[in-house]
Amino acid sequence: MAELTGKVAFITGAARGQGRAHAVKLASEGADIIAVDLCAQIDSVPYPLATPDDLAATVELVEETGARIVASQADVRDRDAVKTALREGTEKLGNRLDIVVANAGIAPMAAADAWQDVIDVNLTGVYNTVDVAMKPMIKFGNGGSIVFISSVAGLVGIGAPVGGSVGYAAAKHGMVGIMRLYANFLAQYSIRVNSVHPAGVNTPMIDNDFTRSWLEGVAQDSQGGPDMGNALPVQALEPEDIANAVFWLVSDAARYVTGVTLPVDAGYVNKR
Ligand SMILES: NC(=O)c1ccc[n+]([C@@H]2O[C@H](COP(=O)([O-])OP(=O)(O)OC[C@H]3O[C@@H](n4cnc5c(N)ncnc54)[C@H](O)[C@@H]3O)[C@@H](O)[C@H]2O)c1
Repeated sequence: MAELTGKVAFITGAARGQGRAHAVKLASEGADIIAVDLCAQIDSVPYPLATPDDLAATVELVEETGARIVASQADVRDRDAVKTALREGTEKLGNRLDIVVANAGIAPMAAADAWQDVIDVNLTGVYNTVDVAMKPMIKFGNGGSIVFISSVAGLVGIGAPVGGSVGYAAAKHGMVGIMRLYANFLAQYSIRVNSVHPAGVNTPMIDNDFTRSWLEGVAQDSQGGPDMGNALPVQALEPEDIANAVFWLVSDAARYVTGVTLPVDAGYVNKR
């Protein structure tokens, strides 16, 4: 029997990139999936966000593993929408909720006017997700595991003094505070809470003209300063590398791991 058989996982930002990789990995390990994604554009984000077709592709990939999936469009900034998507999902999947992956995020790094949008999605959205999800988790009484997808930008001071970039660093650090608070509060219910901190991951968030030219600019500005590269000889990680870490965190192999900030970063943070 697969490690996660009988479990239900709720994943935000699941239409593509890391969110899709988490959905497919957890499904291939036996979990049924509740997937949400905005599937629409946010004005301050200069690269395309996911589409309904992307979410449909995630559904297909999850179903190919044999798992069930309930997918819907929902904005993590909208607490009621998250609550409705989650309720509909748990009702269809047997009234369970064991795993939450708060993954949805935006990175409008070069946008001067993006502070508020980044805080709304990457910080308030994470708070909405955990606050809405912990209530059914506690009620169902099976314990569980919550994982926040932060960033190396949630552990060290990287970026540029531009609204979108400062907001990204603030939100990704802020998630650690939320994670630590809920790890303490939810321990009494055997619910573990941890954050994962990836270095650059090969997804549409960085594989686009806007982010590429921003990263080149930051690298040029810091010439003679700290090396921005990873320690291990790899330019960007793959979404599956992060999904493997998430799987470990939500599995019984990590049953006494809570309140931890886990870099999956090819040694990036250790080099700073
Ligand atoms: N790609 C990287 O280099 C990298 C590095 C470290 C951390 N991260 C973080 O990993 C997470 C996943 O990003 P990714 O790399 O897969 O990028 P991505 O852009 O491919 O995926 C992010 C997903 O979130 C969705 N989304 C955005 N705003 C939303 C909202 N308000 N409500 C619901 N869904 C929303 C998008 O539509 C998209 O499908 C993000 O939190 C990101 O900040 C990414």
